[in-house]
Amino acid sequence: MLNKLMDIATTSVEKASFLDAPAAKLAELISPVVQRPGPRHVASGTPIGHPLHPLLVAIPIGAWSSALAFDALGDDDGASTLIALGVVTALPTMYTGLSDWSYTEGAEKRVGFLHAAFNGLALSAFVASWVLRRSGRRGPGVLLSIAGMAGVSGGGWLGGHLAYAMGVGVDTTAFQHSESEWSDLADPAEIVAGELTEADLDGVPVVLTRLPDRVVAYADRCSHRGAPLHEGTVEDGCLVCPWHNAAFDLRDGSVALGPASRPQTAFEVRVSEGRLQGRRLDERSLRTNPVGR
Ligand code: FES
Repeated sequence: MLNKLMDIATTSVEKASFLDAPAAKLAELISPVVQRPGPRHVASGTPIGHPLHPLLVAIPIGAWSSALAFDALGDDDGASTLIALGVVTALPTMYTGLSDWSYTEGAEKRVGFLHAAFNGLALSAFVASWVLRRSGRRGPGVLLSIAGMAGVSGGGWLGGHLAYAMGVGVDTTAFQHSESEWSDLADPAEIVAGELTEADLDGVPVVLTRLPDRVVAYADRCSHRGAPLHEGTVEDGCLVCPWHNAAFDLRDGSVALGPASRPQTAFEVRVSEGRLQGRRLDERSLRTNPVGR
């Protein structure tokens, strides 16, 4: 029963088109800031190979929920300190969340907008709680902490829906499965340096290009949000995504510039009987989807 109610609620948010206008306004405001090359590289978690936002959320949530425990024990100073810690650490946490959100579209953008609204209200409640406590009004301060925690819980639930149900932040190639046997790819003469060629490796879309010493093959679906990489460009030895300009080093598929945080799956390539062939390269491409490709 609860499961069904939750599903109805999330579906309603996904379809809530009235959120589009304010979401577009916010995106217009923040995108020029959060999508600059340096900040987006760090905020997306590219240096650590994993989205940064889910790591950071643990700090304010942990601080604020611990503050409630301190309140229950009657330790107002301890609770105030933890609320302040939560407020300070919520700022970079929100920044990374907004950065991730700026690359979403449609239903994802609506759910993410409400997720941010819940957490923004929660942050305001904790700031007000801290101010009230400092002025000696502990009772209303505690009530605002409880309200803030309710807001964080609502925001967290929507954040979970974004990641686990809608796949935001997940490597979009995670369940692509290719075989260990060699499969036909293309005519090697068609693969030109500086150009990107789309091909099919036994049902998995791949993108090919030529380096000075060899032909390379990578998953054609961008690990960030799934752009068709063969529509991108080759710049300074990197494959640049056509949607959000992540750059993947063509020597090994590693991310040279975010917002992608996961490398592109690479495939092994050879020429046999005049044809270019490919197969999975390593354990990374062994991940399987139990229900198919
Ligand atoms: S889809 Fe976002 S960088 Fe490729």
